[in-house]
Amino acid sequence: MAVDRDQAIGRIDRRLFGSFVEHLGRCVYGGIYAPGSPLSDSSGFREDVATLIRDLGVTTVRYPGGNFVSGYRWEDGVGPREARPSRLNLAWHQTDPNSFGLHEFVDWSRKLGVEPMLAVNLGTRGIAEALDLLEYSNHPGGTTLSDQRIAHGAASPFGVRMWCLGNEPDGPWQLGHKTALEYGRLAAETARGFRQFDPKLELVVAGQTAPWLPSSVDWDRIVLEETAEFADYVAVHIYVEELERDIQTFLASGVDLDGEIERAIAAADAAAEKRGVGRKLAVSVDEWGIWRGRDPNPSTPEDWPVERRIGESVYTAGDAVVTGALIVSLLNHADRVTCACQSLLVNAGAPIRAEADGVWRQSTYHPFQLAARHARGTALRATIEAPEMDTGKYGRVSAIDVAATLDEEGGQLVLFLVNRSASEVARTSVRLGSWPDARVAEALVIGGGDPWETNTREHPDRVIPRTLSEVALEGDSLEAILPAASWSVVRLATPSRRQP
Ligand code: AHR
Repeated sequence: MAVDRDQAIGRIDRRLFGSFVEHLGRCVYGGIYAPGSPLSDSSGFREDVATLIRDLGVTTVRYPGGNFVSGYRWEDGVGPREARPSRLNLAWHQTDPNSFGLHEFVDWSRKLGVEPMLAVNLGTRGIAEALDLLEYSNHPGGTTLSDQRIAHGAASPFGVRMWCLGNEPDGPWQLGHKTALEYGRLAAETARGFRQFDPKLELVVAGQTAPWLPSSVDWDRIVLEETAEFADYVAVHIYVEELERDIQTFLASGVDLDGEIERAIAAADAAAEKRGVGRKLAVSVDEWGIWRGRDPNPSTPEDWPVERRIGESVYTAGDAVVTGALIVSLLNHADRVTCACQSLLVNAGAPIRAEADGVWRQSTYHPFQLAARHARGTALRATIEAPEMDTGKYGRVSAIDVAATLDEEGGQLVLFLVNRSASEVARTSVRLGSWPDARVAEALVIGGGDPWETNTREHPDRVIPRTLSEVALEGDSLEAILPAASWSVVRLATPSRRQP
């Protein structure tokens, strides 16, 4: 491999390390929010969960869904708690007491120091309700809605910058599921209203959810042609899965995400050109994650609990490697992907598990934390010459993937290296001609042993980053031996270019 200072991809937006909180399973109720628990603060926010989220390094959190938002009435979640209605959450077959709503989410975001990002219901509702939510949230005061917010205890506007216009409307599972033209028109007209309120808001339109949906043939083209003039982002959602124990395909999941991002970029650019829009849309990968297994206890028609165990996968070392590999793909598209939300943050498909009396980190926590901490500054394009390997789904792909980030201010070059091969170690050489004085500050590896090893409550630290021992600088070349099925982070101290 070779990494060069002049090969910049783009600045790494801190929103790349976002996550997602949905009224789903035990993500909100029993996850981040458990009033009355000795582990919660006086607002009902779990302190132990909050500590792990802070350490994870999450920057932005998307809320309240997901599929949930397509049936949500935001007004249910504001005002005195005792007057809030209890409603069926049709998306997840649960009951929502609405004791956690908009104010709680914004308060919680402030407590954690994360940026709140909201999705609006374009499933069962429309432009007027979305504009009401915007006015309630962001208008300083002097109108009925903004004064209501003040009366509900929030004197300052919430100042939410980023808004998702609907969620996965192409999915037949979605309440208010739409054709591309129906959604494209609705999203465009909602965006027009949002722009009239504040031209600087950042608006996300829903791209194609899955390639196997019949509508995927022309979803992006139709939606983006309708919305290119108003939108800032097109959304990509991706969940990868280890199917039939085909670990080789699974470890190469970065190929899948690369393809989805590049498809969305091509569609956005074509629509912008056709509509004569002289700016490029960014990509918001605002749901990405790993599903492992199906829920053992599907709901029965009578069963509408507040807390339901949905998607509480126990993640493996292989899942941690794939999480790292997906982050490599995001970094390698940093010029266009400027927001990404790992899905979800707590309990459901999550890096953090919370039970009533304690929390622990899943394997997938660690690559996210390392990348959020160290991938700063500019993403650099690395060139790779590597052997190829066979995968069931993607054909022959490079056995190695890498992302490189350069933080000039901090004097640090970081390599994120994936060995996708389930069986072969990789002896790698990375030429670093631009940094003759570099030295290895730290080298860590995740995986490389039993790919099905997991962290559990009893053994929360079985899958953690360990020292990558076989790494050394020889002249201007970094030599490293990457174990099979592994993800590594090599931090190199580079003399800062900053003048004293
Ligand atoms: O993350 C769970 C669900 O996956 C979300 O609600 C939906 O947007 C996606 O299909």
